[in-house]
Amino acid sequence: MAEKIARLTVDGLEGVIELPVYSGTAGPDVIDVRPLTGKGLFTYDPGFVSTAACDSSITYIDGAKGILLHRGYPIDQLAEKSDYMEVCYLLLNGELPDAEQKKAFVNTISNHTMVHEQLSHFFNGFRRDAHPMAILCGVVGALSAFYHDSLDIDNEHHRNVCAYRLVAKMPTLAAMCFKYSSGQPFMYPRNDLSYAGNFLYMMFGTPCEEYHVNPILERAMDRIFVLHADHEQNASTSTVRLAGSSGANPFACIASGIAALWGPAHGGANEAVLTMLEEIGDESRIEEFVAKAKDPNDSFRLMGFGHRVYRNFDPRAKVMKQTCDEVLHELGIDDDPLLKIAKRLEQIALEDEYFVERKLYPNVDFYSGIILKAIGIPTNMFTVIFALSRTIGWISHWNEFHSSPNKIGRPRQLYLGHTQRDYPA
Ligand code: SDX
Repeated sequence: MAEKIARLTVDGLEGVIELPVYSGTAGPDVIDVRPLTGKGLFTYDPGFVSTAACDSSITYIDGAKGILLHRGYPIDQLAEKSDYMEVCYLLLNGELPDAEQKKAFVNTISNHTMVHEQLSHFFNGFRRDAHPMAILCGVVGALSAFYHDSLDIDNEHHRNVCAYRLVAKMPTLAAMCFKYSSGQPFMYPRNDLSYAGNFLYMMFGTPCEEYHVNPILERAMDRIFVLHADHEQNASTSTVRLAGSSGANPFACIASGIAALWGPAHGGANEAVLTMLEEIGDESRIEEFVAKAKDPNDSFRLMGFGHRVYRNFDPRAKVMKQTCDEVLHELGIDDDPLLKIAKRLEQIALEDEYFVERKLYPNVDFYSGIILKAIGIPTNMFTVIFALSRTIGWISHWNEFHSSPNKIGRPRQLYLGHTQRDYPA
């Protein structure tokens, strides 16, 4: 029951419209605008800048304070003390697992990492130079053909099996996208390796020789997975929720999330940051690019900067920057030229009035690409890694949506087209 009421008067409408106001456990109150429809009114919020499309208990972001909590735990604490498998369990189930629960969860995921042998034929339909995100969109959507008839979305156990399958198979499919583009044979997953170690094995191992997982890279990869796991109602997660609201197959819903993530304004930014840093090429050219980013007549934006929600540092960017320093130092590449350009660019941008005034800070994508490059991941695979990591967030939100009574999502519009007119006689 609402404790507060918002009261609205509209010119031309009699009386006061009373709208319930709800408070969450944290964050802004929300005004329930549903009664407006009965008054012949819609709300108007292109880009959903000020719209709470649902209620959720998974992730909380305070953009002004740069806070990110997963089921209440701060992202910097999870990045330092947890690991991706534990974060997956937390996001999906709401609590950290005890030792037994974690062991059982990791075992379940490890034993679902193989994909149906016939799925490998889907890859042959793509050109070898196809972008890996295009391939990933296709093959994840194709999973719905393999599990179409074994999923009652109203059955919690079925939903959990689907979540395990997706979390388990995404690294295998991601690595297959890379192997296909390089012409190397697919590597089958190994159940004796960690989630991150197995991914590195499937990416860089070959049938010709033993592959030894580098523990530094394994830890860095796991950290990247943790930092990208979930982020509230971002564009791709909202896409998954909307697709899920029609009752669509969850594998098809995740494929829709992958498609939405691909855009350079969203998950595609990590690839775009590296391309931008390589285009800048030298610290002497940074000012030129910052000027382009500030030019209202130039569509160029500083990739990896700005965020719809954060008007402070993205807490993930802070952890990513620290991880970047650690990984490059441990790998003995302290003087990485791209990292130098990135750090100088960040310093210039953070001192520039244009960025300060608009509260544009480095986001999660600014440093992630440098770490991925140091691990040996090719640039066009960066967003695939983001999609792999974010799958647990997507499927946790999809699961949350289907765990309670729900309705199909159906936004309305402000119509500016022709009013009715007759077809010429
Ligand atoms: C992700 O939503 C999420 O949670 C996403 C994400 C997740 O984990 O799921 O965090 C992942 O998508 C991170 C964002 C990655 N994208 C980029 O790094 C691309 C570069 N950033 C921009 O495209 C932009 O900042 C957005 C898309 C991220 C946010 O855009 P908004 O909120 O729509 O902001 P805006 O376009 O209204 O910008 C406000 C002003 C504008 O200038 P004015 O019209 O006021 O003069 O800031 C300017 C913009 O031109 N601006 C930039 C800029 N970002 C915004 N100017 C230069 N460079 C930039 N990067």
